Amino acid sequence: MAVNLVVLAAGQGTRMRSDLPKVLHEVAGQSVLAHAMQSGAVLDPEQTVIVTGHGADRVEQAARQIDSDVRIAVQAERLGTAHAVAQARPALPDVSGDIIVLYGDTPFISGETLERMTRARQTHDVVILGFEAADPARYGRLVMDGDRLLRIVEFKDASDEERAITFCNSGVVMANGATLFDLVDTVGNDNAAGEYYLTDVVGLANDRGLTVTAVACPEAETLGIDSRAGLAKAEAIFQARARTEALDNGVTLTAPDTVFFSHDTHIGRDAIIEPNVVFGPGVTVETGARIRAFSHLEGCHVSRGAVVGPYARLRPGAELAEDVRIGNFVEVKNATLAAGAKVNHLSYIGDASVGEATNIGAGTITCNYDGVFKHQTTIGARAFIGSNTMLVAPVRVGDEAMTASGSVINRNVPEGAMAVGRARQDNKDGFARKMFARLKALKAAKTKGEQ
Ligand code: UD1
Ligand code: MG
Repeated sequence: MAVNLVVLAAGQGTRMRSDLPKVLHEVAGQSVLAHAMQSGAVLDPEQTVIVTGHGADRVEQAARQIDSDVRIAVQAERLGTAHAVAQARPALPDVSGDIIVLYGDTPFISGETLERMTRARQTHDVVILGFEAADPARYGRLVMDGDRLLRIVEFKDASDEERAITFCNSGVVMANGATLFDLVDTVGNDNAAGEYYLTDVVGLANDRGLTVTAVACPEAETLGIDSRAGLAKAEAIFQARARTEALDNGVTLTAPDTVFFSHDTHIGRDAIIEPNVVFGPGVTVETGARIRAFSHLEGCHVSRGAVVGPYARLRPGAELAEDVRIGNFVEVKNATLAAGAKVNHLSYIGDASVGEATNIGAGTITCNYDGVFKHQTTIGARAFIGSNTMLVAPVRVGDEAMTASGSVINRNVPEGAMAVGRARQDNKDGFARKMFARLKALKAAKTKGEQ
C-alpha cells in the first residue's frame, strides 16, 4: 500500500541557541532533517511533505536539496503537533494510502522499525511508535490495555498514576491518510498546554471504534534533538554504530573511538584505518587500502592497496587509483592519480591528473588558481616532478618527462623531455667568508658603542 511521509519541522528549537533552524544542524555530516527523511525513504513514499515554520525558507531549501520532489506546507503559527499535521492536508489533496508522521528533529528511527509499524498497520487502524524510557521525564505516556493503545496522556496533563508509566510516545504515527486528517480535524486544545495535540488522535480513534496499537523500538532510535547536548549525544550514538559496523564488516580500526565517519562512508574489508582519521561526506575506501593517522578525507575515492597519510588531506574530487601513495602534509583536491602514482611529502595537487607510476617530489604545487579562474594540470605516466616544482596551470607534462627541482613550469613539457625552469646557479669564490667578516666587524663596533 502506498505510504506518504509527513515530517514535522516547524519547531524553533529555542534551546539550541542558534540562528540555524534546529533540523538543519548536522549529525555525521548531514542535517538532522536529511536523516529523518532518509529513515522514511525505506518505505519508498509516494509523497513527502515537510511542515515548515521557524526558518521556513531555509528548511524548504534544504529539504528540496535532499529530495527535489518534496512538498512543503507552511505552519505559520505553532499551535501544536496536530495542527502541524493538519497543515499538510492541502499538500496531499487526494491522499491515497497511509501517512506516517515523523519529526524532523529525530534522526535515528530505523527502517526496520518503520517496517514493523507497517506490518502492525495490516491489523490495526492506527499504529503509534513507543519506547521503554529509562527516564520517562516529560514524554507522553502510552496507556495500554494488552496490545490495545487506549490513549496517550501528555506529561503536563497526566495523573501521578499515569506518570508512573514508562512506555512512552516517540511521536511517530501511522494511519490511513484520510482517516488521520479527519481525526486531526477533531482534535481540540483544551489541555494544560493549550495546544492541539497529535497524541489526542489515539483516544478519538478508539471513540470511533477504530483499532489502535503501539509498536516498541529501542529508546536510542527516538532521540530528538533540541539542544547542543542532544546534538552531541546523537553524534556519539551515530559514531558508535558506524564504528561497530565497520569492525563487523572486516575493517581494522586501530583505535575505533578516534575515527569519525559520515552518514555515507563506505570502507571495504581489510582496509586499515589508523587512529584519528576523520571521514567527511562522500568517501569510499576500497578493500586493503590503508589510511594512516591524522588524515582528513571528504568526497574522495581511495582504491585498493593505496596508502594515505599520515597527516594527509583528501578533498572533494580526489580519485586515487590502486596502489597510489599520498604522504604527510599532502593535499589533493579534484585530481585523479593513476595506479602507483606517488605524492609523498608536502604537496598540493589540485585540478590535476597524474599518470600511472609518476612520482611527485616534495613541495610540489599545482598553481591552479589565477585569482579568478581554476586551471588544469595534466601530468603523464612515469614522469618525475622534481621537488619544489611550481606547475603553473594550465600546463601539461608529457609521459616520462622530468622537471628539475625548484622549477617554475609555465610551458608544456614534451614527452621524455627534462624541463629546467629556474635561475642558473652562480658560485662566487670566497664571497661568503668576506661577507661574514664584514658583518662580525659591524656587530663588534656596534656593541662597543653601546657600552
Ligand atoms: C511530543 C509528543 C509527546 C512525545 C514527544 C516525543 C505531542 C502533543 N506530544 O511532545 O507525546 O512523547 O513529542 O519527543 O505530540 N512541531 C511542529 N509544529 C508545532 C509543534 C511541534 O512542527 O506546532 C514539531 C516540532 O518541531 C518537533 C515535533 O513537532 O519536531 C514535536 O514537537 P515538540 O514540541 O518537541 O513536542 P513534545 O512536547 O516534545
Ligand atoms: Mg520534543
